[in-house]
Amino acid sequence: MDLKDKIVVITGGTKGLGKAMAFCFLKNGSKVVVCSQEGNRPENLEEEILWIKANVTKENEMKDLAEKVIRKFEKIDIWINNAGISMGHMPIEEIDSVFAHEVMEVNFFGTFFGSRSVMKHMKKQKFGTIINIISSRAFDPSPVSAVYSSSKWAVRGFTDLLRNILGKENISVIGIYPAGMRTNFYGKDEPTNYKNYMDPNDVAEKIIDNLKKETPEEELIIKE
Ligand SMILES: NC(=O)c1ccc[n+]([C@@H]2O[C@H](COP(=O)([O-])OP(=O)(O)OC[C@H]3O[C@@H](n4cnc5c(N)ncnc54)[C@H](OP(=O)(O)O)[C@@H]3O)[C@@H](O)[C@H]2O)c1
Repeated sequence: MDLKDKIVVITGGTKGLGKAMAFCFLKNGSKVVVCSQEGNRPENLEEEILWIKANVTKENEMKDLAEKVIRKFEKIDIWINNAGISMGHMPIEEIDSVFAHEVMEVNFFGTFFGSRSVMKHMKKQKFGTIINIISSRAFDPSPVSAVYSSSKWAVRGFTDLLRNILGKENISVIGIYPAGMRTNFYGKDEPTNYKNYMDPNDVAEKIIDNLKKETPEEELIIKE
């Protein structure tokens, strides 16, 4: 796909991998919209990027986001469900159940609401690509991140299902499965081998290179 003038929406595009992808799309001539739940536009965001406040766990805010982009640009070429949160590493018995719900809300329902909000527009325009940022944990669950791994397993299942349904509508659905990246994702709970994790800019380049292929991989595992 030629990315020039493509309209790209990235949830959680203000930090980490989302921000790195936003920058990569800009370099390729795309028009980029990002959302985050923060109160104000982050200061360090490139000025060409349109920022809209929207929380992925609120379906009405996802619908509004898609509608605002359609009103401004009249189409959405690529929608990336990227926003996600981690839980730190702990055994199942020690998991805080309120936080466990929050992880499912952001990681699974955020992707579900985002996809549902953009599908309607993509079906109408009869083209589009939805990219879900999942995790290698969807294939290789960790006993010390049970809820996070399960949330990504759920997103993986949903992504496969969505691909089957939307393929008939000329809408591609791509699942991205990165291993660990050096972002703010872990907060103070940096894993012991954090310094060996991937640079999110390199991962973003791989995601964008895949999209530029004539036939992009539908399931892209990025380990190094
Ligand atoms: N880092 C890793 O090792 C790793 C590995 C595999 C997969 N992933 C996945 O990659 C994706 C990006 O993670 P990252 O490492 O780049 O994390 P990050 O640096 O913590 O960035 C997360 C982004 O998501 C946004 N966000 C969080 N909750 C949100 C909500 N409810 N509504 C809207 N935006 C929200 C954040 O904005 P606010 O500041 O407004 O919250 C931020 O822009 C996630 O899906 C994650 O599961 C990460």
